[in-house]
Amino acid sequence: MSSEKILVIGGAGYVGSHFVRYALHEGLEVSVADNLSTGHRSALRGTAFFQFDLTGSDALLQHLSRNRYAAIFHFAASCLVGESVEKPDLYYRNNLIAAYNMLEAMRATNHDRVIFSSTCAVYGAPQRLPLTEDHPKQPISPYGRTKLAIEWMLEDYHRAYEIRSASLRYFNAAGCEPQDGLGEDHRPETHLIPNVVRYALRLTNDLVIFGDDYPTPDGTCIRDYIHVTDLAEAHIKAMAKMDHNPLIRMNLGTGAGLSNLEIVSAVSRVSGVKLSPKMGPRRPGDPPELVADPSLAFRELDWKPSRSNIEEIVRQALQWFSEHPSGYPD
Ligand SMILES: NC(=O)c1ccc[n+]([C@@H]2O[C@H](COP(=O)([O-])OP(=O)(O)OC[C@H]3O[C@@H](n4cnc5c(N)ncnc54)[C@H](O)[C@@H]3O)[C@@H](O)[C@H]2O)c1
Repeated sequence: MSSEKILVIGGAGYVGSHFVRYALHEGLEVSVADNLSTGHRSALRGTAFFQFDLTGSDALLQHLSRNRYAAIFHFAASCLVGESVEKPDLYYRNNLIAAYNMLEAMRATNHDRVIFSSTCAVYGAPQRLPLTEDHPKQPISPYGRTKLAIEWMLEDYHRAYEIRSASLRYFNAAGCEPQDGLGEDHRPETHLIPNVVRYALRLTNDLVIFGDDYPTPDGTCIRDYIHVTDLAEAHIKAMAKMDHNPLIRMNLGTGAGLSNLEIVSAVSRVSGVKLSPKMGPRRPGDPPELVADPSLAFRELDWKPSRSNIEEIVRQALQWFSEHPSGYPD
């Protein structure tokens, strides 16, 4: 891989910081832009850092006028499904308006490649499984709707202005790289694995599983967990693929699902701690099962997740939280 220059917006966040680590290993020259609203300054090392907010229309435009990038990676977003139902204004502003600002700044400065963090939430409640890319898109939360609207914006900007894009629809991002000081530290944390691991380490007193009466074998929700470094690898491959395919939209998952109780068992097995979660009511808008058909990405990107083993993911989370019980310092 050449020493191309890339800009990573949202690179101080969970997925973004792991992508930055991987891109640096690949020999890319990385700059990060982030407003640090949910990201962590201490998750970044070895990159230029620019602190600005994408919802301001001018900062990125000024930056792109002075710097030239081979591609822009857009991880920045608000991404809590429940919060998006209560405060849709925040989501339309921080996701949709911010993406519009980015595309306009790219257009004005002749930057023509963007890799966008999309989500399986664009599909809504599955009508069939596993989810293929042509499944109907009926997102059920403002979060999912803003992500789908950005995908549409990217299609239209390609047709009209020849901006190339890859919309990568992640399933559940998981895992970390504790040997390089990188972990998962969302506040609040709504993801299952870090919450179960924190409970096993007695960093939190409560563990609630939301619903055990779903039509699944053990009654709890099933999700497809993909390692963040597998996601990172797919992003680099998607950037290369854009030379030949200017409009990429694909799932990034493993194709296999694990139930919430299977995650609890895995943490129990790896940590050696017996865990007894409480059973709570269902969370509104949680489909029983979300599992990717990742065959398009396997074929088109010549990519396969090689790091998404659940026990390894749990081991990494246990190591990171043991070493950083309060998360990142800043
Ligand atoms: N984590 C997952 O399981 C998952 C699944 C599907 C999709 N995604 C998508 O992946 C992306 C990254 O998710 P994450 O879990 O790393 O989230 P995160 O909150 O850890 O990271 C988002 C980063 O973007 C920054 N940011 C937010 N708004 C900004 C703005 N207006 N200007 C500049 N910077 C801004 C934050 O400070 C943070 O560093 C998001 O777009 C999310 O929707 C994540």
